[in-house]
Amino acid sequence: MHLSLSTSLRPAARGIVLALFQDAAPVKHPWFTALPAGVKQTILAFSKAKEFTGKIGEVHVIPFGSPVRRVVLLGLGEPKDWNRRKAMLASRQVVVVAKQHKITDVALRLDDLKFTNVDTESLAQLVAENAQLADYSFVRYRKVPKGGWPKLTSFVIHVRPSDRAAAAKGVRVGTIIGTANNAARDLANTPGSDMTPTLLANAAVAEGKKAGFTVTVMKKDAIEREGMGGLLGVSQGSPHPPTFTIMEYAAPGHAKDKPLVFVGKGVTFDSGGLNVKPDTAMYEMHMDMSGAAAVIAAMRAIALLQLPLRVIGLIPAAENMSAGDAYRPGDQLRTLSGKTIEVMHTDAEGRVILADALTYAERYKPAVVIDVATLTGAAMVALGQRAAAILSPNEALSQQLHTLAEESGDLAWPLPLWEEYEEDIKGTFGDVANSSKVRYGGAITGAAFLWQFAKKFKRWAHLDIAPTMTTIEGQYLAKGSAGAGVRLLVAFARNYDAA
Ligand code: BES
Ligand code: MN
Ligand code: ZN
Repeated sequence: MHLSLSTSLRPAARGIVLALFQDAAPVKHPWFTALPAGVKQTILAFSKAKEFTGKIGEVHVIPFGSPVRRVVLLGLGEPKDWNRRKAMLASRQVVVVAKQHKITDVALRLDDLKFTNVDTESLAQLVAENAQLADYSFVRYRKVPKGGWPKLTSFVIHVRPSDRAAAAKGVRVGTIIGTANNAARDLANTPGSDMTPTLLANAAVAEGKKAGFTVTVMKKDAIEREGMGGLLGVSQGSPHPPTFTIMEYAAPGHAKDKPLVFVGKGVTFDSGGLNVKPDTAMYEMHMDMSGAAAVIAAMRAIALLQLPLRVIGLIPAAENMSAGDAYRPGDQLRTLSGKTIEVMHTDAEGRVILADALTYAERYKPAVVIDVATLTGAAMVALGQRAAAILSPNEALSQQLHTLAEESGDLAWPLPLWEEYEEDIKGTFGDVANSSKVRYGGAITGAAFLWQFAKKFKRWAHLDIAPTMTTIEGQYLAKGSAGAGVRLLVAFARNYDAA
């Protein structure tokens, strides 16, 4: 899908979107007069008969002319309820409806979706980004149907001439972030058989070449030499060796900056290990590298946007399998930090590999460390599937992430992380236990565990993206991975101010 801008007062596309608030008269829409008389009549009759009232999400598609064109009446609901999140959904719905109706090119007025306190650039970014998200589908493993997959070729955003420059910036940024987000979905949607730790590392290398950041991959022998006993322990039961991938981006003149470090959980398949996951709980566990995918994709967007800073991305990658030589409950793993992890539960593997990655991050003397992980089912219990969890001992960082989550649409909400919780993850014979003695608050005790390996950082936050790992009904997004974390990490980098 190609996104472009137009300042024309008449839409030339074959699909014309009239986005209308509830009970707004269609005649008042600036594009109404440009329509042929026949369609105008149909629309007026429709609206008079209350066939279309502009309720949120309501859609009517009216064909006209030859070759056929279509008017799409899109309901926005009550003006007083209109907000950023709804504008995101509407942008996506335009794409979904266009594809459903085989409309190959579509036009929308940017002003139709305007909400309070939004500037032109960020509104254009929002529309472009969400149009990209909605255009995504994962069909690599399917036979191409007769006539091919539905395809929206062109999305034209109409703006006022005075808004053109700002909108162009927004479209560029939104396209980069939206397509990066989709790249993360591709990685996460790929089955475990085709996304082993080595293949995940290769994907990072490929992205680095395309986007312009350096990538170094440590293989098993290097990981052994380094002493990453956590990563080695988790991967022990799998025939696929672990990898540890280091990505580095620095804008010219920023090579010596204290970097932002992003760490992504790269469990390419999580069977639970010897504490095997029950029946359907294992189904989506090829997406347990979604944190890694988010970090790789964020690196790509940051590099393409040429943000004026330095960013390191770290990916510990392993497959968590059960086998004769798999790691066992009761095992003591010696981590890179020197601390031992007492394995209580082999299904709490994410935190074990992240422990080594967090210690590895220390050598960069980072300004900020953010790890992203599909860490706990408990985060889903706490928040449902509409927000990831933010956990940080740093209140200001937590709040900043919360605000940026709202702005970027990559929703996340804070949970507490106090020293008191550290009590719950003390080991009996080892230094730290990988699962809590307490049955409750699993998202928090997971973070408390990670915190043991993040004590040297002034600013560290953990994003538990298990809740938002997959898309849900009503989001106008394809089934499968949501690419959670990408927009939030990029928003953080874009807003980061070294001072
Ligand atoms: N990858 C899972 C968490 C998960 C569950 C992500 C569902 C996405 C959807 C993680 O490795 C895990 O198994 N966590 C355990 C931790 C427990 C054993 C302490 C969990 O949440 O049950
Ligand atoms: Mn697990
Ligand atoms: Zn896992």
